[in-house]
Amino acid sequence: MQIPFNKPAIAGNEYAYIADAIRRGHISGDGYYTRQCQSALEEALGVPRSLLTTSCTHALEMSALLLDIREGDEVIVPSYTFVSTVNAFVLRGGKPVFIDIRPDTLNMDERLLEGLITSRTRAIVVVHYAGVGCEMDAILRIAGRHGIAVVEDNAHGLFGRYKGKMLGTFGCLATQSFHETKNIHCGEGGALLINDPAMIERAEILREKGTNRSAFFRGQVDKYTWVDVGSSYVMSDCLAAFLYAQLERRAEITAARARIWNGYAGSLVDWAQANGVGLPYVPVHCQQPFHMFYLLMPSLESRQRLIAHLKTRGILSVFHYVPLDRSPMGKTYGVFDCPHTQQVADTLLRLPLYNDLAAGQQAEIVEAIQEFSTGSQDLARLAIAVAEPGYGVRTEPRAAVIR
Ligand SMILES: Cc1ncc(COP(=O)(O)O)c(C=O)c1O
Repeated sequence: MQIPFNKPAIAGNEYAYIADAIRRGHISGDGYYTRQCQSALEEALGVPRSLLTTSCTHALEMSALLLDIREGDEVIVPSYTFVSTVNAFVLRGGKPVFIDIRPDTLNMDERLLEGLITSRTRAIVVVHYAGVGCEMDAILRIAGRHGIAVVEDNAHGLFGRYKGKMLGTFGCLATQSFHETKNIHCGEGGALLINDPAMIERAEILREKGTNRSAFFRGQVDKYTWVDVGSSYVMSDCLAAFLYAQLERRAEITAARARIWNGYAGSLVDWAQANGVGLPYVPVHCQQPFHMFYLLMPSLESRQRLIAHLKTRGILSVFHYVPLDRSPMGKTYGVFDCPHTQQVADTLLRLPLYNDLAAGQQAEIVEAIQEFSTGSQDLARLAIAVAEPGYGVRTEPRAAVIR
């Protein structure tokens, strides 16, 4: 493909910092660059503690351990998400209860939450899809009323905000991904954000193979030993060096992505309206980190046809999640009612968006899309982003302000 879907961008100081990590003679975990990254995250987000992990998947697994999820505990999760959001809890014996998404933001539909809560519900895991915040006020109110923990899978949403507050700071725990497809990355990596200070000590132990090694290095105990369950969730300092180079350029990275996102939104709005295509919806109270730009096509057929059309122009566009409630594993947990999830899974198409996508390349992509017609049959079907009562949905894209 001449224009790939994603290209892991280099921010500038990656090679120098990796060389420095090697020179410092500490390339296992919790070295200089791990501390730099963790401090940067804690400062920028205002979280009491962040711990770098080997992946977002592992940070989610740590969350399930910290919440002490046991056999038969129910965990409410969107069906429209990456498998790790769910598997981390299933690994501990948790039972997923799949919730449908709102057709506007494609986030968990908080209006369905109350109806899914039972005496076995232990956690609600929200996913801020495309980095646009879930309706956290309502979700926290409902969770609080029932004494249920909230975990944010914030894999897409680092530095996004909901009503001015950073995503990742709402749940008792939140998880980040630094996979190469994310805005800020180190190839493979993640972080656990701990908002409940009572969980910090145990989180450090679980991450260090069930030992109190972190307390030992702080001089708080005179030898370290096995004190709990745990695993190996610590990121190498070489990767943390790479990650720090990205984190220190976060303003430029967000600005570059905002330009591309706004470029798509501005150029495609007329075509989308003429072709019954939905564009991303960002509520006014959400600031997004410009992680993803997607189209909601009128049908599966037109989505597949547009993928094929773009491929002939050397452009790779890709669909996204396959509904988990309909997956072979998901079906073993029962039958769930997630019609919007199914429709979005069939019709959503993600366009190339990476930090150094050149203006000329983006113009080629836009031109190729504008050549494409969904056809009159497709137009007879409802585009997802069309208003539904109670949502106040707008069909036109809205560019969020970057802070
Ligand atoms: C919503 C969500 N959660 C979790 C993950 C897993 O991230 P990682 O690859 O860092 O484990 C992904 C991966 O893309 C994701 O999209």
